[in-house]
Amino acid sequence: MYENSRLLIDSSNPPEPGQIVWRSPSNLAIIKYWGKHGVQLPRNPSLSLTLSASCTDTALAYEFREETDNRIDLEFLFHGEENESFRTKTLAFLESLTPQFPFLRQLKLRINTGNSFPHSAGIASSASSMASLALCLCSLEDALFGSLQDPGDFDQKASYLARLGSGSACRSIFPYASVWGATPAVPGSSDEYGVPAEDLLHPDFKDLHDDILIVSSREKTVSSRAGHALMEGNPFAEPRYAQAKNRMTRLVDALRGGDMDTFGKIAEDEALALHALMMCSNPSFMLLEPGTVALIQKIRAYRAETRHPVYFSLDAGPNIHLLYPGEIVAEVRGWIEEELKEHCVDGWFIQDWVGEGPEEM
Ligand code: DP6
Repeated sequence: MYENSRLLIDSSNPPEPGQIVWRSPSNLAIIKYWGKHGVQLPRNPSLSLTLSASCTDTALAYEFREETDNRIDLEFLFHGEENESFRTKTLAFLESLTPQFPFLRQLKLRINTGNSFPHSAGIASSASSMASLALCLCSLEDALFGSLQDPGDFDQKASYLARLGSGSACRSIFPYASVWGATPAVPGSSDEYGVPAEDLLHPDFKDLHDDILIVSSREKTVSSRAGHALMEGNPFAEPRYAQAKNRMTRLVDALRGGDMDTFGKIAEDEALALHALMMCSNPSFMLLEPGTVALIQKIRAYRAETRHPVYFSLDAGPNIHLLYPGEIVAEVRGWIEEELKEHCVDGWFIQDWVGEGPEEM
């Protein structure tokens, strides 16, 4: 939708060198995106909460260069060090964006990026990194051409570009919550980009905590990309897409009404559906670890015993996202220390919470 742009720098009036820095958080899907078609289009709508502590900082430095060839001139650093595999992926992504951003070939670019959490631990590092890069690109466009002055236009384009990098990334652009994928439950929703969903939230949901219990920080055995592809032959694919669409409507009602129990039930059902789909793929794969199952059982027992609204979710990995309202944070943290930490690698968990979304630094 943004293709075939004519944005080119006038070489008789080149811009000064500059640098743009964005910090973008990760997000946790409550309704999961699992299965895609075409160019990164989702098979079903998804809804996520925007996190705070799990984030990526990306700095994009640029300098005009006389266009001598057709390539993109990119230097790439990850946590301050060269990383050839990330550079290759980023370069391929930028190359794919040249119909939208022809001016990228007129610049010398230097990207320096780093996460606040381990890469490929199932904490959706692709979401925060692609979101922060997409935001940098939109700021770059605006700095050079002044063409993204309207905040709504800016966010929509950033979300669209982030989606092309990694589907779930398109939801990290917005404060508190986002919906990606056309659904009658959210007017204005689209398969092409995420939309803000803060307005759908009863105030109680803006105060949710999401502590991430790190059951394993090893790199995943099956990438999300491969997992999505396996949905194509999955016998449960069609019923799954129908289930997600149906749950979206119920979730939106629960979010509006402050219905924490229905929210928590849907969050858990979705996490388990995601992993069940993996196990039913051909070939089958399983990302859950014994520690994941032990934690799920402890969470259910604690909820039954205390009646506290404490729920779990999972990304495409073994780590548990523990969801609960801010008012019981002290008690829950005490319980994590006493009972849950023993299932985490080196007792490690990340304290995170629903937050205000990306910021330009
Ligand atoms: C399980 O967005 O990582 O986290 O589009 O191939 O980059 P690609 O996949 P990705 O898939 C995320 C899947 C998920 C659920 C979700 O975030 O909705």
